Order: sequence, then structure tokens, then C-alpha cells
Amino acid sequence: MTTSPDISFYKPVSFSETTITELMIPSYSNFGGKIHGGILLSLMDKVAYVCAAKHAGNYCVTASIDTVDFLQPVEVGELVSLMASVNYVGNTSLVVGIRVISENVKTNVVNHTNTSYFTMVAKDDDNKPAQIPGLILENRTQVRRFIEAKRRKEIKQNYKKEVDHVAVPDEIEECEVLLSGERAVLVK
Ligand SMILES: CC(C)(COP(=O)(O)OP(=O)(O)OC[C@H]1O[C@@H](n2cnc3c(N)ncnc32)[C@H](O)[C@@H]1OP(=O)(O)O)[C@@H](O)C(=O)NCCC(=O)NCCS
Repeated sequence: MTTSPDISFYKPVSFSETTITELMIPSYSNFGGKIHGGILLSLMDKVAYVCAAKHAGNYCVTASIDTVDFLQPVEVGELVSLMASVNYVGNTSLVVGIRVISENVKTNVVNHTNTSYFTMVAKDDDNKPAQIPGLILENRTQVRRFIEAKRRKEIKQNYKKEVDHVAVPDEIEECEVLLSGERAVLVK
């Protein structure tokens, strides 16, 4: 028989759901006239922080960011909205899922720019990882996001183990075979 957890230290996802909308001004653009990826990353970090800190009730730091694929360029003059919610909680860390959209106010065209997942860690007054409240899931979407985040965490742990064991021969000549078919050449 499973016992119900004491949820007095739990918070619902809705408690910390956060949306930030920002106008893309000319100083955010690159030489090609599109918005710098770094501007979007900075905004994502900001919304992740707000969402994480609200849930944690504490100061938080960014521990890691899952792959960020920029699916569509963002233009100067567009509105970018970043919607963040807590997808998963561990003991002292939580995962914030962020969906980014851009909107042309004249044409009403809305583009999905990217989705990413930020792992944030709560810190106490001594700068040590602090326990965060559990998560109250209230619908199937929130359950799906929680389970997907848990799976991504497992995959990431396995990926790290594999990457840490990538073998590169000590002798540089033996590396040539690994370069075969690649657009790189070893010049000795
Ligand atoms: C992230 C950081 C807090 C982890 O500290 P630590 O002493 O290694 O803490 P722990 O090993 O006890 O891990 C604490 C939690 O963070 C998680 N964590 C640590 N590194 C992680 C990583 N790279 N990716 C995902 N989660 C991570 C752990 O899984 C653990 O989660 P849990 O308590 O929910 O199980 C620490 O490395 C740090 O402060 N990094 C700098 C953060 C920073 O400056 N960010 C940019 C500016 S905000």
C-alpha cells in the first residue's frame, strides 16, 4: 500500500507559471538584421529564473540548459513571448520548460521559435543547494511534461556516460581512421 505524501510543502504548477513578452528592438539584431540568438537565450534564462524562484521560494541558479534549436528567425519589431512552467522537481533542482513564440503585430503571424528546458538549482543563504517544494500536478499535460522531463534526465545521464568514454587513440596516426569520411584532414 502506498502512503500519500504530506503535500503541505507542495505547490501547483500554476503557482509559478510565468510569461514574459518583450519587443524586439533594433539593438538586439545581428548583421543580418535578425535577432541575436544570445538575446533570446538571455530572455529564456530570465523567465526560467522567475518561474524557478517563485516555485522554490528561494534564490536559484541555472545548472544546465537542454538543447536549444532555433526553428525560425526573429525579426526586429516582433513581440517575443516566453511561457515558462515547472515541468519536474527533484530534491534541490527543478526543470523549467519554456516555449518561445514570436508575433508580428501587423500580420498576426505567430511563429514557434523554440522550446527548451532549463535545470535550476535552489540555493539557501549559505549558497548550498536547498530543498524545493514538491509539485502538484493537476492535469494530463502536466503529468506528461513531468514524465518526459524524468526520461530526458535519464537519457542525459546515459549520454554523459557514453561521451565520457569516447576513446581517442594516443597515437595521432591512429586517429586518421576516425577522420575518414569527415571534412577534416590531419596535416603532420
Ligand atoms: C549547479 C550547482 C548548484 C550544483 O551544485 P552541486 O554542489 O554540484 O550540487 P549537487 O551535486 O548537490 O546537486 C544539486 C542538484 O543539482 C542537480 N545538478 C547538478 N548539476 C547539474 C547539471 N549539470 N545538470 C542538471 N542537474 C544538475 C543535481 O542533480 C541535484 O539535483 P537534486 O537535488 O534535485 O537531485 C553548482 O554547480 C553551481 O552553483 N554551478 C554554478 C551555477 C551558475 O553559476 N549558473 C549560472 C549563473 S546563474
